[in-house]
Amino acid sequence: MILVTGATGHLGSAAVSHLLKNTSAGNIVSFARDENKASILRGKGVEVRIGTYDDISSLDLAMQGIEKVLLISGNGPTRLQQHKNVVAAAKKAGVRHIIFTTIALKDMKTAALRPLMEDLYQAEDYIKQSGLTYTILRNTLYTGATPLFGGEKVIKTGINLPTGNGKVPFALRREMGEAAANALLQNGHENQTYQITGSDLYSYTDVANVLSTLSEKTVTYTDADPKTFPGRLKESGLPDIVVLLVTTFSEDVKNHQFEIVTKDMENLLGRKPASLKEGLKEVFSL
Ligand SMILES: NC(=O)c1ccc[n+]([C@@H]2O[C@H](COP(=O)([O-])OP(=O)(O)OC[C@H]3O[C@@H](n4cnc5c(N)ncnc54)[C@H](OP(=O)(O)O)[C@@H]3O)[C@@H](O)[C@H]2O)c1
Repeated sequence: MILVTGATGHLGSAAVSHLLKNTSAGNIVSFARDENKASILRGKGVEVRIGTYDDISSLDLAMQGIEKVLLISGNGPTRLQQHKNVVAAAKKAGVRHIIFTTIALKDMKTAALRPLMEDLYQAEDYIKQSGLTYTILRNTLYTGATPLFGGEKVIKTGINLPTGNGKVPFALRREMGEAAANALLQNGHENQTYQITGSDLYSYTDVANVLSTLSEKTVTYTDADPKTFPGRLKESGLPDIVVLLVTTFSEDVKNHQFEIVTKDMENLLGRKPASLKEGLKEVFSL
């Protein structure tokens, strides 16, 4: 049986949807902390085991009879310990293979995101040292994060970000979930680290141009001043953690940290991932 954590979230639910198309619901177990959200999964015939990454006894119970685990990374300052708890419970229960989602950056050591994301690479190391068979999926920036970065009304307001000419191989969460599901279903991905990226690099000028074409409105990109940018976000009422995330993501985009393109996602999907245009069309329902 396969256990999918984070199955009430975007990526995990996409993985479960793809698994349901390719294996029986009886082979899938989801790990969720919210009974209400989990009822959708139960409705699809998927067994739900309730717990959290902090609750070791819930993890021990969740791992019973499981062969493979898809661990969707969590959030917050204690997530390294949370991820270690999941891995330790998997190891204890005799799980064969763990698949873990992290982030694709060129060089974590010099990344602006290092204080927020280094714990993901530390969890990768912990998994490798655990002796479990692993597959690491280093995911690039979601196309679906565009409304978070550019603002919900980005088509009206345009994009104002301090990203310069930096580029990103944007990819859809739906397809990243499908790729993760295929890593669970197929053989040959044992002890591999994949960079899950789209096939092409795009700047935020490209994002603005594609949004203009799709919406038939003029969407502009303006390179924001990195000095005043965090203050402006704060004034707009965004919580400090979102200000920090958007600022550091932007700095790393500008510094070309996201400019990684591989065929790993294409190989897992068995086709080319969605282009930026196809992705933005889906994200903005255009
Ligand atoms: N590459 C990118 O652009 C990007 C952007 C944002 C985030 N991320 C990372 O990728 C992960 C997956 O993305 P997503 O869009 O699927 O996020 P999401 O929709 O927020 O889903 C996260 C899932 O993890 C579950 N979860 C979080 N903490 C947990 C805990 N302590 N115990 C049990 N379950 C827990 C959540 O449960 P609930 O449903 O109960 O909340 C949810 O099901 C995120 O958690 C984050 O680490 C990547």
